[in-house]
Amino acid sequence: MRILSGIQPSGGLHLGNYLGMMKRMIEYQERGTLFCFLVNFHALTTVTDAGELRRNTLEAAADFLALGLDPEKSIFWVQSDVPEVTELTWYLSNHTPIGLLERCHSYKDKVARGISANHGLFAYPVLMAADILLYQANVVPVGKDQKQHVEVARDIAIKFNNAYGEIFTLPEPEVEPELATVPGTDGQKMSKSYDNTIEIFADEKSLKRKVMNIVTDSTPLEEAKDPDTCTVFALYRLFASPEQTAEMRDKYLRGGYGYGHAKKDLYELLLEFFRPHRDERARLLADSSHLRDVLRKGAEKARAEAEITMKTVREAVGVIY
Ligand code: ADP
Ligand code: TRP
Repeated sequence: MRILSGIQPSGGLHLGNYLGMMKRMIEYQERGTLFCFLVNFHALTTVTDAGELRRNTLEAAADFLALGLDPEKSIFWVQSDVPEVTELTWYLSNHTPIGLLERCHSYKDKVARGISANHGLFAYPVLMAADILLYQANVVPVGKDQKQHVEVARDIAIKFNNAYGEIFTLPEPEVEPELATVPGTDGQKMSKSYDNTIEIFADEKSLKRKVMNIVTDSTPLEEAKDPDTCTVFALYRLFASPEQTAEMRDKYLRGGYGYGHAKKDLYELLLEFFRPHRDERARLLADSSHLRDVLRKGAEKARAEAEITMKTVREAVGVIY
């Protein structure tokens, strides 16, 4: 089974991304052949600073590798290293009804939020369909906001197959269970758009500052506190062992344990939890040419798969090559 997913390298990855997506992606390596890639072409719909895109792409790669994505076990690459994806986008475009794209919520939401309604943004789902179909993916794990895009990919595949024969595997979306919505420093869902994130690999000083800034109520230090309404506790339990969680719960209920203490415990837990990965990430980023090599090797494997599909597609549409 081929499991495939793309991730936008559009800024520092946070605790919500880790628990909601990266950890699962890394676990998928055991379930089938994992195709995991950084979609820098897609990121161009929102990132216009070249240096920022370059930096974000390499940092996201280091984040994934440091957290356990194994480039030997799975295929891990940067989207633009397999340029065939843009060629396939064009072939697919000719079988994509405008109405299908006009119905995409993500496009409508982005335009409503003020992102300019250009062709790249409109055609975003076609590029995503090419991502999926190029590698003949069976299962596409995504957040629920991306389910419609996978359905669009499936619709396009059906239309193309109807026109030219059974060329593409029909992909199925696998929507992430919404078990763990990680709260941000203000208690709402942690998200880049709400400016309430705690980055996994923030340096120690800014990690501390962010944890100390988590919003709490004003129950005085000596009084008992309710762990179940507290964001510090909610974050702590996501990373702590059951024993550590029970211990902190006890401290809350007993009183004499202030939010300052709880924040310090959370800060130390996060440092401890990510410490080995932090060191690995620093090592990867210090040798960016090695990192780039790892990504190029991944792209070679991806490209070999892409070539098989492209040969059939070019043959089918009548493009000589
Ligand atoms: P953001 O909201 O910060 O822009 P994205 O929408 O880029 O994050 O999310 C990328 C992935 O991370 C998605 O798969 C999403 O489900 C997951 N994710 C993001 N924020 C959270 C969160 N607070 N809790 C759980 N998962 C999250
Ligand atoms: N659009 C997806 C997102 O924003 C990223 C993406 C691009 C993707 N290509 C993909 C996801 C292919 C799954 C499969 O999260």
